Amino acid sequence: MSTPHAAGLPLFVSAGDILTDLVRERDSRWLSHPGGAGWNVARAVARLGVPSAFAGAIGSDCFSDELWQASLDAGLDMRFIQRSQRPPLLAIVHQAHPPAYFFIGEASADLAFDPARLPEGWSAAAQWAHFGGISLARQPLAATLVALAADLRARGVKISFDPNYRNLMEHGYRPTLETMVGLADLVKVSDEDLRCLFGTDEDSALASLRAMNPQAAILVTRGPHTATFLAGGETIEAAPPRVEVVDTVGAGDASIGGFLFSTMRWPQRSWREHLSFALAAGAAACGHAGAHSPTLDEVVALMPAQ
Ligand SMILES: Nc1ncnc2c1ncn2[C@@H]1O[C@H](COP(=O)(O)OP(=O)(O)O)[C@@H](O)[C@H]1O
Ligand SMILES: [Mg+2]
Repeated sequence: MSTPHAAGLPLFVSAGDILTDLVRERDSRWLSHPGGAGWNVARAVARLGVPSAFAGAIGSDCFSDELWQASLDAGLDMRFIQRSQRPPLLAIVHQAHPPAYFFIGEASADLAFDPARLPEGWSAAAQWAHFGGISLARQPLAATLVALAADLRARGVKISFDPNYRNLMEHGYRPTLETMVGLADLVKVSDEDLRCLFGTDEDSALASLRAMNPQAAILVTRGPHTATFLAGGETIEAAPPRVEVVDTVGAGDASIGGFLFSTMRWPQRSWREHLSFALAAGAAACGHAGAHSPTLDEVVALMPAQ
């Protein structure tokens, strides 16, 4: 068997949302930003320094060209991004405060993702695969991704899952949630995800989540407030570093990306150290406009002194 590095395949693969955010400005002009939670997580891990890929599909239009170029710039393994003639997936963010949005993506390119067209041998090289976001609430993509997660888990790839609640998950999402939590080694949720997914207060929601898979490690983030990490009967709490916040777009993606990077780069480190790195990565993303992927130096600069 060839070693992963000899084959030049990524150690980390994130499969899920890749889309364009169309954001309405105060003067009714619109700005487009390449985005998608799964794509942000792939960029976060790549930027920190572990060879990474985003696995998914985009179109052949102007927005998709921008996603392609930004993926190249981020150093992602481009063999994992498929292209088709279908229209792009758009997130229309028509109001910033409070956020109000809807999606346009009927028969769009993202739905055509085909895992059978990924590079030969990639799953043997991957240590972690990450799933989540609206891709798991959009058929037939959701079924494709759930089947992929199950297959990867059976092959010994560790599974990370961040549901990243959006209004598309209001109805019919529960079976997918249960299956993905059941497959996951690590689940990342925000306090808001917990309340919205379960429709209860945070404590009851967390209890319901844990009951779905008592073996899974769980990272609960709460914006600037203390985060909780639960694994193997251990509960660890830590507060993120304080930063000058420009915006919090992509903070959660940077934090789970940071956590996964830390476990891959420093497997000997403790859960507390991985948590601390994750929270610094999330905070570092808040110091810049948009879904900024922090560098290793930026994250380390925010880490509490040991
Ligand atoms: N205002 C903030 N100040 C510092 N760090 C923040 C802030 N907001 C978010 N973060 C960082 O990003 C992480 C994830 O943020 P959170 O808002 O909980 O997730 P999500 O983006 O998924 O909603 C936090 O645990 C923290 O590390
Ligand atoms: Mg989130």
